[in-house]
Amino acid sequence: MADVDIVNVEKTFSGGKEDSPFTVFQDVNLSVDSGEFVSLLGPSGCGKSTLLNIVAGLDEATAGKVTSDDKAIVKPGPDRGVVFQEPALMPWLNVKENVKFGLKKHKLSKEEAEDRAVHFLKLVHLGKFMNAFPHELSGGMKQRVAIARALAMNPDVLLMDEPFGALDEQTRSMLHEEVQSIWEETKKTILFVTHNIREAILLSDRIVLMGTRPGRIMEVFDVNIERPRKTSDPDFITLEERINDQLKGEIHKVMREEMGDGYGGA
Ligand SMILES: Nc1ncnc2c1ncn2[C@@H]1O[C@H](COP(=O)(O)OP(=O)(O)O)[C@@H](O)[C@H]1O
Ligand SMILES: [Mg+2]
Repeated sequence: MADVDIVNVEKTFSGGKEDSPFTVFQDVNLSVDSGEFVSLLGPSGCGKSTLLNIVAGLDEATAGKVTSDDKAIVKPGPDRGVVFQEPALMPWLNVKENVKFGLKKHKLSKEEAEDRAVHFLKLVHLGKFMNAFPHELSGGMKQRVAIARALAMNPDVLLMDEPFGALDEQTRSMLHEEVQSIWEETKKTILFVTHNIREAILLSDRIVLMGTRPGRIMEVFDVNIERPRKTSDPDFITLEERINDQLKGEIHKVMREEMGDGYGGA
């Protein structure tokens, strides 16, 4: 298991020839404990994916530093698994081969790789679909394969960027349950990006609300509600309203800036 420390992180994109540099966020500080489930929540464009990609080692901070167990993160590594909104499976490989593909660098014996793939595919309830090809699967099933693929590499930290954003409500809620039981079973550290308040409250120990223009952390909410959580729980509803009020303010701000006088919102 591992923790993640984000210290005074800034990200600025240098822009094209004529564009001026654009700072996505500045002074971002966040410590995620080992085994903790933390969500990054915020309006589209506030830099959630950018921050997650920096922790993944897929992008580089302009200033500040990001460490996991005190080791600087400079590139992707087997200690961090990533799941994106699009599962990006290889269409010419079946489900089991897709999961095993990610294990190639791990220098496992054939049997070990096989066992791991089977184990994690069963964990995400795809035991019966190991020989199916991606085009034969629903969106939810594909996303389960992506989760199994990430877990099979046995990362300490799981980074998920709106993993259920493209799924229908029912599938999404089934996967919420699965992710929770996987998290409880494996005790992974999870950093989860979403713009869905309910999803964040259902799953997280803490919710980091990000604002935009300038991008920053606005507030961190502890979710002290017993699991499994119900959206009808009065504590759930109270927290949802608190977060919603703040988030709405940010979204209106963005709309006003983008649309000027033409914007009729509050
Ligand atoms: N490679 C890039 N070059 C320039 N700007 C970028 C790049 N990637 C993201 N951005 C900008 O950074 C901001 C944050 O993007 P992103 O992290 O994707 O936000 P979110 O995931 O919260 O929707 C956006 O304004 C986006 O246009
Ligand atoms: Mg994003």
